[in-house]
Amino acid sequence: MSQKDKLVIFDTTLRDGEQSPGASMNKEDKLEIARQLEKMRVDVIEAGFAIASPGDFEAVKLVADNIKDSTICSLSRAMDKDIQAAGDAIKGANSGRIHTFIATSPLHMKHKLQMPPEQVIEQAVRSVKFARNLCDDVEFSCEDAGRSEIDFMCKIIEQVIDAGARTINIPDTVGYNMPDQYANTIKQLIERVPNSDKAIFSVHCHNDLGLAVANSLAAVQLGARQVECTINGLGERAGNASLEEIVMAVKTRGDYFNVEADIDTSHIVPTSQLVSKVTNFPVQPNKAIVGDNAFAHESGIHQDGVLKHRETYEIMRAEDVGWANNKMVLGKHSGRNAFKSHLAELGHKFNNNDELKEAFVAFKKLADEKHDILDDDLLSLVKH
Ligand code: KIV
Ligand code: ZN
Repeated sequence: MSQKDKLVIFDTTLRDGEQSPGASMNKEDKLEIARQLEKMRVDVIEAGFAIASPGDFEAVKLVADNIKDSTICSLSRAMDKDIQAAGDAIKGANSGRIHTFIATSPLHMKHKLQMPPEQVIEQAVRSVKFARNLCDDVEFSCEDAGRSEIDFMCKIIEQVIDAGARTINIPDTVGYNMPDQYANTIKQLIERVPNSDKAIFSVHCHNDLGLAVANSLAAVQLGARQVECTINGLGERAGNASLEEIVMAVKTRGDYFNVEADIDTSHIVPTSQLVSKVTNFPVQPNKAIVGDNAFAHESGIHQDGVLKHRETYEIMRAEDVGWANNKMVLGKHSGRNAFKSHLAELGHKFNNNDELKEAFVAFKKLADEKHDILDDDLLSLVKH
């Protein structure tokens, strides 16, 4: 038996990811992605925002009716009609969750909600109670928690836990926090809220300053046990924390983290490619884990190292995240060892060192002139 705590992986590609301008998906697309997430053993799938449109309601319902192994969640503002729509949409799920939120930062309460803090607490408590009448599994989010006052959050969180919320999510809605600051907020909330042991504390970070993954992982170290994330880091503005980066950081650095995620990582790359195809958002080549170059080596020193012993320049195995293998890209930085072994894979064996040397000089000359060296180019260099 593992001594590690479970880290709940909550995927919001179909909700926050879809809020990315231009990334909207129809219900069939959502179901196809949800099936992949289920295969990956994602714990919770946030399938949409049921009240947002009739199409979104139908999509949440379709996912809830068909996905059996993951919990299916719908987002809702802290309003009865939203919560009712969320409850109706997830009714067919084996395991359903209602996720309700209200803003808690002074800025949002004053300018957006135009409500005094006491009224925000009242509405949050009422909404959680209403949600609990429809579903046992209720999550509450303090929107813009990253800019909220800690004393106020302690107060509202204690009351929503009393009202029945079982997951408390602390979103850095605008990606404003630094890792130690955000992690410390989670730690303080867990320590100061008297009934914090009755809930799982969750993190939800946006990537406006490129810190979504770092902030989420720092918070996991200080007590968060659910991470909300998306495939390819899709999401509002600069996106959300990327699921593949969170999961692989926790797995690769098992020596560092005291938590374990129950994810079948071999489905990561196919899922990333599906999300990219459906949304028409390309994955940048140097994106961690799922970019085309994430396991590719061009420099001679690196290629030589990896051919001799893979761990010299790789901390993960390409196959473990769903790539067929790592890649040796032949270009002007490549070395003789990779050149020779690639040609051997193509069926060519050099008779002696002089032959190899001559072909390698010709290859370097070609690589200076041509960006992409194809297998046919290499074979024509050694044809006599
Ligand atoms: O970023 C955010 O605050 C959200 C909440 C609605 C959970 O997406
Ligand atoms: Zn968000």
